[in-house]
Amino acid sequence: MCKRNAAGLAHANQHTMTQANILLDVNGIEVIYNHVILVLKGVSLQVREGGIVALLGGNGAGKTTTLRAVSNLLAGERGAVTKGTITLRGERIEALSPAALVKRGLVQVMEGRHCFAHLTIEENLMTGAYTRTDGKAAVAETLEKVYAYFPRLKTRRSSQAAYTSGGEQQMCAIGRALMANPSVVLLDEPSMGLAPQIVEEVFAIVKDLNAKERVTFLLAEQNTNMALRFADYGYILESGRIVMDGPADSLRENEDVKEFYLGVGGADRKSFRDVKSYKRRKRWLA
Ligand SMILES: Nc1ncnc2c1ncn2[C@@H]1O[C@H](COP(=O)(O)OP(=O)(O)OP(=O)(O)O)[C@@H](O)[C@H]1O
Ligand SMILES: [Mg+2]
Repeated sequence: MCKRNAAGLAHANQHTMTQANILLDVNGIEVIYNHVILVLKGVSLQVREGGIVALLGGNGAGKTTTLRAVSNLLAGERGAVTKGTITLRGERIEALSPAALVKRGLVQVMEGRHCFAHLTIEENLMTGAYTRTDGKAAVAETLEKVYAYFPRLKTRRSSQAAYTSGGEQQMCAIGRALMANPSVVLLDEPSMGLAPQIVEEVFAIVKDLNAKERVTFLLAEQNTNMALRFADYGYILESGRIVMDGPADSLRENEDVKEFYLGVGGADRKSFRDVKSYKRRKRWLA
């Protein structure tokens, strides 16, 4: 664990946190698709209450698979968790249905901002409240809150989702998740296909929701730079394994992260595994 740590001390803080403030604990999970394809090879990560944790990595690293494992959405993809445990506030959740997880406050915003194309923005948002049992007034209050955070959605409330912009659809997908009144949101690749300015706007709202509403986020992103600016802790996944983790600041300062994920240094992106063997070779030659 310590070896792939970007900054020992701060890392220790994350890991000495009391059980009480760990909201989500993924412990050594293995995921297999179609009974044969091993995709996650023992992934462990922790999300503390009130945090924004980034799960970083390139194409096919296993980010979406990790989020699907947590929100129990693997079955539809012919995937299954075959090892390890997942707990939410100390309670094992692997056997709970996605709907039961929503009731416990865990909601996923899927990759590709799935909105119902033929429904209006407001109708889309209202579908997010289907598990609520606390009455219309409470739901209406949440809707107003969502509009306060996403004024663009309020302007577009009666437009059909199909005719709104990519940024508005992403906001709609996040807004719909918020309608369930969640305590933790799993956000899969919110920056995908959006202009940098819109990505900035979406991330700023996420940060605001985190600060003011205490919504916890687990954020899967290829956009390392943006994610590490807004997250407080990050994990880097490569080929189904966590290869590094640490506080966001120290990951941003880490030379390997800079070189391979932040595009500093100009070289084509390699992988940490290459770095390790390179360093090993250097040591051996020295
Ligand atoms: N339903 C599936 N059946 C078989 N293999 C799958 C399935 N879904 C994903 N995979 C494989 O699992 C690996 C991890 O995919 P995953 O979608 O979790 O990666 P990711 O990190 O989210 O990538 P991206 O950034 O491109 O979204 C890939 O090799 C992918 O081909
Ligand atoms: Mg993905």
